[in-house]
Amino acid sequence: MSPPAGESTANAVVLPDYLRKTYTWAYLSHRTLPWLDRSLVVSAILWGNAGRLMRAAVAEFAPGQRVLQAACVYGAFSSMLAARVGESGALEVVDVAPIQIANVRRKLAHQRQAVARLADLSQPLGGATFDGVCCFFLLHEVPEDQRRRIVDNLLAAVEPGGKAVFVDYHRCTRWNPLAPVMNLVFRTLEPYAPSLLDTPIESMSARAGEFDWTHRTLFGGLYQHVVAVRRKA
Ligand SMILES: C[S@@+](CC[C@H](N)C(=O)[O-])C[C@H]1O[C@@H](n2cnc3c(N)ncnc32)[C@H](O)[C@@H]1O
Repeated sequence: MSPPAGESTANAVVLPDYLRKTYTWAYLSHRTLPWLDRSLVVSAILWGNAGRLMRAAVAEFAPGQRVLQAACVYGAFSSMLAARVGESGALEVVDVAPIQIANVRRKLAHQRQAVARLADLSQPLGGATFDGVCCFFLLHEVPEDQRRRIVDNLLAAVEPGGKAVFVDYHRCTRWNPLAPVMNLVFRTLEPYAPSLLDTPIESMSARAGEFDWTHRTLFGGLYQHVVAVRRKA
């Protein structure tokens, strides 16, 4: 799979501080990546919900569409999206980490409709637009400032009539037995997640008013599936 025209070079893209300081072990290490990039691990991290969360996100898109995947995801997610848009469509995966781009290119090597590109999603994306944008469990790993810029950039990349899909953590109900465990996970491993849990994604961008928003939560409120459809005019 060859990089698309206009791809940023590795030298021009700087790894964000939050990624280096907080998530080197998870996303930037050649030692841990092969262990973490397994469907079983992703499924365990999401308490057995990875399959249904991924399938629901992928089902938002249609064959023939051009879709942007905002950041790499461990497991088969990118392959599922590429299969969904099919050979008449196109999938572009964008990530800021060269190791992740190399890894997803390997995973997508047999799906010619897919390309992967190195870029920081909190920086302007260069004006390309898509029928769909899919952001799967990225926002909780990003500090508030960059998160707002990412949401704004992703909404800007949706064509009229197209949609953005955000799947991520959400504040779970008080009776959810996992609430104390997840609080501990967020405190120790996911320091930016708490600021996402109660903040509606549409409050993060001035462009939100151009979209119709639908939300649902799953698994006792722990996860949110949010769809923003851009009105045609
Ligand atoms: C999508 S998130 C987490 C996904 C999920 N936890 C999983 O199972 O893989 C992880 C990815 O986000 C990428 N990332 C973080 N900040 C980014 C940014 N500003 N621009 C592009 N990619 C970013 C990281 O490099 C990493 O590959």
